Amino acid sequence: METVVSGIRSTGKLHLGNYFGAIRNFVQMQHEYDCYFFIADLHALTTHPTPDDLHANVRQVVVEYLAAGIDPDAATIYIQSEVPEVAELYLYLNMNAYVGELERATSFKDKVRANPDNVNAGLLTYPVLMAADILLHRATKVPVGKDQEQHLEMARTFANRFNRLYKTEYFAEPYAFSFSKQLVKIPGLDGKGKMGKSEGEANAVYLSDSPETIRKKVMRAVTDSGPTAPNQQKPEAIQNLFTLLAAVSSPDTVNHFDDRYNRCEIRYGDLKKQLAEDMVIATADVRERIHEISNDNEYISKVIRQGNEKARESARRTLTDVREIIGFKQF
Ligand code: TRP
Repeated sequence: METVVSGIRSTGKLHLGNYFGAIRNFVQMQHEYDCYFFIADLHALTTHPTPDDLHANVRQVVVEYLAAGIDPDAATIYIQSEVPEVAELYLYLNMNAYVGELERATSFKDKVRANPDNVNAGLLTYPVLMAADILLHRATKVPVGKDQEQHLEMARTFANRFNRLYKTEYFAEPYAFSFSKQLVKIPGLDGKGKMGKSEGEANAVYLSDSPETIRKKVMRAVTDSGPTAPNQQKPEAIQNLFTLLAAVSSPDTVNHFDDRYNRCEIRYGDLKKQLAEDMVIATADVRERIHEISNDNEYISKVIRQGNEKARESARRTLTDVREIIGFKQF
């Protein structure tokens, strides 16, 4: 069976876009591949979180992924920092990663531009750690979005370079893997583009948001002054609300508001109220699960211990081979 690896940002609390998108991929994949999903808490150190924040973030992400349907008996879910073999592989791969190519990475240049006071070496070698995450389990499929394509290309480069240097075919090339064509794209509430947290807190509805918060955010969503002629094409902000409605409401409800819009009789307040209520309903089960799991320390630690152990087994196998390939021999 092919192996899948994906790293989850440790500050990545889930919004509806993730829930109807990436998470659906993970949940489906966990039954079809040998899946390793880990919380990337080592990567998080590039921005120097406080110890309390680091831990709370990791915990919240674990809770939400479990609540959203990652099954710890199907997939291996673990914490990156609990599998120290990854740091060792990162060290080996660093010997073969050139400063020039790392400096040219788009994500590095973006981060330098955004935070010129924190250009640390961890930031520079972020793609090497990411390659180590993937090669650690000799994975070939990596479910990530377009923004990670360059990192994956670098992972392939490092894998091939290792193979060439040591005249081996040990590492297979990892490729991005996405169902994105089949996925519903969930727009945000700010009238433009997709739901995401980089667009501001109010743009995204989080699975952990209370019904009250959901209602508030939806009622503030961007609209316009309304259609001026029958059957007008909807501007982006309005189309976005209809797309959200289609994701959480019944077809009858969508048709009802569509009809109103086409007859210039729409009241956006009514649409938003309905949208908010249907969002609250669509997320009720996950919200409940988040709450339950979050209060069950014993369950969380059992799941994590089991995942870490499985991941370490796989990691140890790889590192034993890699040490031998490199030429470290026992005395
Ligand atoms: N860089 C990824 C992101 O920002 C997270 C990540 C770290 C990752 N290591 C990985 C993704 C390994 C896939 C495989 O989303």
